[in-house]
Amino acid sequence: MNNFEYKRKILFCENIAVEEICKKIKTPFYLYSSKQILDNFDLLAKKFKGCNVLIAYAVKANSNKSILKLLAKKGAGADVVSYGEMSRALKAGIPPNKIVFSGVGKTDLEISRAIEHKILQFNIESQQEFLIIEQLAREKKIKANIAIRINPDIEAGGHPKISTGKKTDKFGVSSDEAIKIYISAKNSPYLNIVGVDMHIGSQILQMKPFKNSFKKIEKFCKELEKNKIKIKHLDVGGGLGINYSSKKIKDITKEYTNLVKDISLRTKKKIIIEPGRFIVANAGILVTKILYKKSNEEKKFIIVDAGMNDFIRPALYDAKHLVKQIKLNKDKYKEEYFDIVGPICETADVITENAKLNKSIERGDFLFIEKVGAYGSAMSSTYNSRGLIPEVLVSKNMFFEIRKKMKEDDFLKLEKVPSWIK
Ligand SMILES: Cc1ncc(COP(=O)(O)O)c(C=O)c1O
Repeated sequence: MNNFEYKRKILFCENIAVEEICKKIKTPFYLYSSKQILDNFDLLAKKFKGCNVLIAYAVKANSNKSILKLLAKKGAGADVVSYGEMSRALKAGIPPNKIVFSGVGKTDLEISRAIEHKILQFNIESQQEFLIIEQLAREKKIKANIAIRINPDIEAGGHPKISTGKKTDKFGVSSDEAIKIYISAKNSPYLNIVGVDMHIGSQILQMKPFKNSFKKIEKFCKELEKNKIKIKHLDVGGGLGINYSSKKIKDITKEYTNLVKDISLRTKKKIIIEPGRFIVANAGILVTKILYKKSNEEKKFIIVDAGMNDFIRPALYDAKHLVKQIKLNKDKYKEEYFDIVGPICETADVITENAKLNKSIERGDFLFIEKVGAYGSAMSSTYNSRGLIPEVLVSKNMFFEIRKKMKEDDFLKLEKVPSWIK
């Protein structure tokens, strides 16, 4: 995490000491480094220079408008899964011809709007969805660009809940079913077959699933071409993982980008990739304050002001994130192991177990959770009637609150009490 570094034992985000931000913004808050986001994007973009590769950022990973705008300015496209995400992407300046629309449950309204915007492609996930897109395109007399998401039946992803490419997962259709859909799509004057799509899972740290699935999509494409169905785009999805631990693991970024480059040069088609985590995960931390310390015969707990409603990955996926101090008073003989827990009334509200921190940390001290830029804020909720927390973006020595805290009153305003209770 180059843009989150300790300097003289104080954590900096780019050129700002995080404790300075804590003086202005109440914890808990998400803190992002613009430079890290741009560096991550550039790392991929540079590798694909001269190739026909579209980096369609998976908006679900972090959908903050400012982050989308940063990426739009870099030429990123977007992979969206709802009209909410699509409209954010459009507002951020990502053009419709760089937007792909994935997801198993697109509503008629969402489909209609996407047709009107003439997006790059629908990634269709079922026969019924295909029929609805055809019907709505016909009604509007606008040609919709389509790709079918095939389910390659490949195991991938760091956790069963983030694997998406197995037959038992709800995503995509089998190659046999896809062929039938493509053949019927060929006859519609309102559908423009442009591509084939696939996404096998998230937090993938080995090349094998990528290699296997890329082979499958290419083979499938050849089969389509035998049936005189011409394919211009291969959307190979996202999934490239990152190292959340302090241990060294094999970095597959180079091998992955080479694989993408190879398929692009060999097939001469536009390759679409949909990275989310890789672009934003290590560009964000969650800053939190210690509320209380307590211990029993078994455990030492630190209770912080960030809860599982703010950051659900550990509870949902058993995700492991390191928790560290904003200010180090590092004397290793004075270190102790603590379970870092949130204030939510759920046993699952544990951010991490056995975090090694200095014994002397106390109520009021600040901690941070590492690498939470992806699927952090985007998955947060108002559980326990807690308002969504601020998001802050740093660029060099500037910082800006890119999302304000949602106050308890903000969501109470949405609720109405019927007259028969009053
Ligand atoms: C269709 C699709 N594309 C892309 C992504 C992004 O995956 P990742 O953040 O692992 O790159 C996801 C996430 O699960 C997805 O469902």
